[in-house]
Amino acid sequence: MLANLDFRPQHFDERDTTNALSNAMGAAWLRCFSRGWRRLRCLSLVLLLVLSVYMYLWLTVKRRSQNQDYGGTDSMYANEVINSLLRNQTFSRDQVCNHPYLDPFEPSIMKFYRDVGSLRCSEDGNWIKVNNGTFWIDKEARLRHGKISCQYAPIYRKDEDHFRVGDKKSFDNEVISAPADVIQVSCQSGLFGAKYSNVHTTVAYNREVHERVNKASYDQLYMPLNVLMFGFDSVSRNTWLRTLPKTHKYFTEHLKGIVLKGYNIVGDGTPQALLPILTGQTEIELPEARRGKPDAKVVDGHPWIWNDFKKSGYMTQWGEDMCWIGTFNLRMLGFDKQPVDHFWRPYCQASEGLHKYNKPFCLGSERRHKVMMEWVKDGFQMYQNRLKFIFAFHSEYSHEDSSTLSWADDDLLGMLKYLEENNYLNNTMLILMSDHGARFHAVRESMQGKYEERMPYFSFRFPTWFQKKYPSEFKAFKNNANRLTTPFDIHETFRDMMKFENKPSENEKLPRGMSLFKPIPKHRSCTDADISPHWCACLGWNIVSATDPITKKAAASIVDFMNSLTEKFRSKCHSLSLKLIKSAMVMQSNPYIARFLGSADVDGRVPKESKGAVDKSALYQITLQTTPGDGVFETTVKHFASVDKFVISEREISRINKYGSAANCVYNDAPHLRQYCYCK
Ligand SMILES: *[C@@H]1O[C@H](CO)[C@@H](O)[C@H](O)[C@H]1NC(C)=O
Ligand SMILES: *[C@@H]1O[C@H](CO)[C@@H](O)[C@H](O)[C@H]1NC(C)=O
Ligand SMILES: *[C@@H]1O[C@H](CO)[C@@H](O)[C@H](O)[C@H]1NC(C)=O
Repeated sequence: MLANLDFRPQHFDERDTTNALSNAMGAAWLRCFSRGWRRLRCLSLVLLLVLSVYMYLWLTVKRRSQNQDYGGTDSMYANEVINSLLRNQTFSRDQVCNHPYLDPFEPSIMKFYRDVGSLRCSEDGNWIKVNNGTFWIDKEARLRHGKISCQYAPIYRKDEDHFRVGDKKSFDNEVISAPADVIQVSCQSGLFGAKYSNVHTTVAYNREVHERVNKASYDQLYMPLNVLMFGFDSVSRNTWLRTLPKTHKYFTEHLKGIVLKGYNIVGDGTPQALLPILTGQTEIELPEARRGKPDAKVVDGHPWIWNDFKKSGYMTQWGEDMCWIGTFNLRMLGFDKQPVDHFWRPYCQASEGLHKYNKPFCLGSERRHKVMMEWVKDGFQMYQNRLKFIFAFHSEYSHEDSSTLSWADDDLLGMLKYLEENNYLNNTMLILMSDHGARFHAVRESMQGKYEERMPYFSFRFPTWFQKKYPSEFKAFKNNANRLTTPFDIHETFRDMMKFENKPSENEKLPRGMSLFKPIPKHRSCTDADISPHWCACLGWNIVSATDPITKKAAASIVDFMNSLTEKFRSKCHSLSLKLIKSAMVMQSNPYIARFLGSADVDGRVPKESKGAVDKSALYQITLQTTPGDGVFETTVKHFASVDKFVISEREISRINKYGSAANCVYNDAPHLRQYCYCK
């Protein structure tokens, strides 16, 4: 119960706690070696401990290696993808990269999902309300608890890992202008002596930032739009559809948002997704920033896109939760100076010490993701008519477990509705996104899971007037939604908005990153987009020769299949035979993905693969001609390599030349067979 909480500042510096713990352990260790018989007991305890850790590790490694032994079952995985392709004909013949259509509700994936219900926080509503840079004591809390008196103190960023608490002040009835984005509050009620303590956040009035953005004219900008990018960690496109259905419906149907269906990751992990978006470069190309590496530097010097937005007169706001494993902090050295105008990290650090006194994922009566959404709203309210770049990235739910993301659906929908109803979206490029799909082991074991990991959710929404004002850009964007796209393109799109010249490409080569406001060619391949084969989720059509033995067998099986359909009418229809294979193409699952197990190193730079052979099951598209009658058919047939069987469905056969009156004999009895029947 939050109301029974003391205000304990010592919990605000986790480093102190760690020091105290290590001191205590050191003392116990020394005592261990002090006296004779005690030493023996101590040593056997230590021995037991070492043994059990060893046993545990041995068991874990064993279990892992069992999980990773895919031998013999690869064909099953390959078939999942081939199956899913056949289910929906979303692929295009003349496009080099086609992403597979993966059924979001595929049972092999749904088994990782469970109903998590809704997230319930403390019944006692938070005593403090926050809005647009101000806060006050809630009237309702007064009704419940009688007279309430409080103290607040601002919290400031000290450095990347610490914050500083300012002077305390008392307040009761007034609305207070927040002196900083983060406020620590402790209150007491006169009636029953109940207590309240919490950390709140808003976007505080900041004179310096206001003066800067008020000076900006925005005339030089190509597309003077706010950018709101809101994302969740580890959410594939399918996971988004599974867990955020209300938001997705509102976003695509009401707001007419556009989901990038060919969006493909370029590396493994959050930095590998966010660095290309935010800097246009990969971690390896940027200056060394990894902890413990010689010459490593903080990441301040990276070419962050928010610096460009700032130069263009934008207010910049960025936040991610789980700050103890911050994207640029866990392995990297983080920032020396505060990178953006309004920065979530100090709030994250000041509030994380309170998590243990609260229900999971709550702070008092507030859901923690909601606090982040309110902060986004406050950014819009505080800088009403000024441009802003806001990026909020939430990880707590989706990082380990995909099911819990559904807790955010109602509130995300609420945020979008708020922004829409208050006209904030009329001037905003709204982006809902993720970095990559689920990476936890269980999902990654299935072929569909591996493909899903490479196809995160990424979507854009433009104001309704956008299409009129930028017709060619909008048209290009809509077409690009079905092309191969990457995080590098998002970066170029931002630069394009601000009218930065695109670098001219050397030779005929396509540039690595391409603005989504210009047409992305159908022939763009993973190589063009600098996606290594391990991450490339495209399924490409390759032309195969008509004399290829499997193609010939496939064509024969198609003709057999068509004959089996007319079997009952053999007295009327000729039996057909193959005259000619006009063209054939094959599509196979990516063998690198089939073998992919995970990353071999902590930096996500080296992929680890299984050694098992990869099944060659494939999808064949064959255009063939039969005789008599010279019917031409376009067909798709699935080949299961392990058992050398062809599977054909009637839906996948289309006659592409006219049959005219040649099929009149079955016109009345079996009109659906006309395309296969050449009357005797
Ligand atoms: C894919 O197939 C499913 C089920 O058959 C259908 O509901 C869905 O609309 C299809 N999607 C596309 C893009 O064709
Ligand atoms: C939010 O506060 C700022 C600064 O006090 C003010 O200019 C702005 O109009 C407020 N926004 C709303 C929606 O009230
Ligand atoms: C939305 O923005 C457009 C373009 O700036 C403007 O013409 C229009 O009046 C705005 N609509 C509303 C409701 O504010």
